Amino acid sequence: MAKSSSVFVCSNCGNESAKWYGKCPECGEWNTFQEFKVDASVKTKSRIDIEEAKPKKLGEISTHPIQRISTNIKELDRVLGGPSTGSGLVPGSVILISGDPGIGKSTLMLQLALNLSKNKKNILYISGEESEGQISHRAQRIANQKTLSNSSISIISSTDIDQVLHAVSREKVDLIILDSVQTIGSNEVTGFPGSLPQIRYVGMKVSQVAKKNNIPVFMVGHVTKEGVVAGPQLLSHMVDVVLYLEGEPLTGTRIIRSFKNRYGDTSEVGIFIMDEKGLSEITEVESFFIDTKKSAIGSSVTVVQEGSRPILVEIQALAIKSNLSFPRRVATGISEKRLEMLLAVLQKHGRLNTYDYDIFVNVVGGLKIAETASDLSVIASIASSIKSKPLTKTVAIGEVGLLGEVKSVLQLDKRILEAKKFGFKNIYSARNVSSILELVKNI
Ligand code: TYD
Ligand code: MG
Repeated sequence: MAKSSSVFVCSNCGNESAKWYGKCPECGEWNTFQEFKVDASVKTKSRIDIEEAKPKKLGEISTHPIQRISTNIKELDRVLGGPSTGSGLVPGSVILISGDPGIGKSTLMLQLALNLSKNKKNILYISGEESEGQISHRAQRIANQKTLSNSSISIISSTDIDQVLHAVSREKVDLIILDSVQTIGSNEVTGFPGSLPQIRYVGMKVSQVAKKNNIPVFMVGHVTKEGVVAGPQLLSHMVDVVLYLEGEPLTGTRIIRSFKNRYGDTSEVGIFIMDEKGLSEITEVESFFIDTKKSAIGSSVTVVQEGSRPILVEIQALAIKSNLSFPRRVATGISEKRLEMLLAVLQKHGRLNTYDYDIFVNVVGGLKIAETASDLSVIASIASSIKSKPLTKTVAIGEVGLLGEVKSVLQLDKRILEAKKFGFKNIYSARNVSSILELVKNI
């Protein structure tokens, strides 16, 4: 009989401990510790083999330049490593791609597989949630028959990781895709696939195979509706790159971000659009998020900096007289708290009565803006809607402070240049307006 012991794992952050805690000392969440029985013999067996543990002098360690493999999907290459680090896949790296169910993870993985297979790479697609038939069906949607017949993709539909990794040792494989980490498990550890010990085991096994064979591995991880990333969160400590695919189901825009990247810059994003042929790249992304080309009431444009790229984004606002005691404030694409704050500043320092209006703000194209550089554009669009005055091809870039002052933002020159490139002439920023009152008076 194998010796077994207990381990407690926090379902929020993956923190592991020999004893139980009511509150996780790592992430501070309450009641998240779960007990798992661990087979002690398995634990030692699954450790990564270390050949020798002799320290080396830093200067004596020989390094080779990383030979990256292009995925032939420009936007994906970009998030895997930006222009400064070289883009594409690093051999031997383990990449976790997470996101809501139905967002397009499997589609992107299949497109990647089909692309690399054109370069005669052998790809192993391990699916724990879909049958071979379902995958083939999807493939027919995104590629033509000729590409499919010439492809070198092998599909295994299985839920047993030990079984599928056995296949890797027999055949020459250049890339592994595991879809998804929550549906594949092992008999070697307790629990159902998707439970923390199972996920940890799968993650460890996969990393071993990646490092040993020097091949990249993609692991797909689902995030639940409530945003619980228990499993993937635990995995993020074990993998080299964590990618997140997000988007608005309605608009079809999909954005891929990286939260961790041992081989590149995490500020780069990849932008796609989901259509009937899977995820396509957007050709002119700089101007993709502008809808109205003419002047319009309640519309202005800002320039957000996504990684090394400035992107023009239209911000639309609608203000209508409200008879509610608490007028409605609805924000899509910017934080609702930020909108509240901007409205208060507009009321006090912009001298516009915002409390009589229901106010809706929308970022065109489903982009979520996290930076404050869009504040001034939000203010401009709302002021334009309240005053019912159109803005003529107006760009506004700047953070707005509680005193109504307009602050400069990082890379302002680059952003202004980009706006000019697309023919915008009315450009407001800390260069020409110091307070929002000046801007409001101009509208
Ligand atoms: P999928 O890749 O299965 O999502 P995930 O693996 O993240 O759960 O994508 C599912 C959605 O994408 C589904 O609603 C159909 C849509 N889709 C398209 O719009 N176009 C396509 O070419 C494909 C393959 C899927
Ligand atoms: Mg899927």
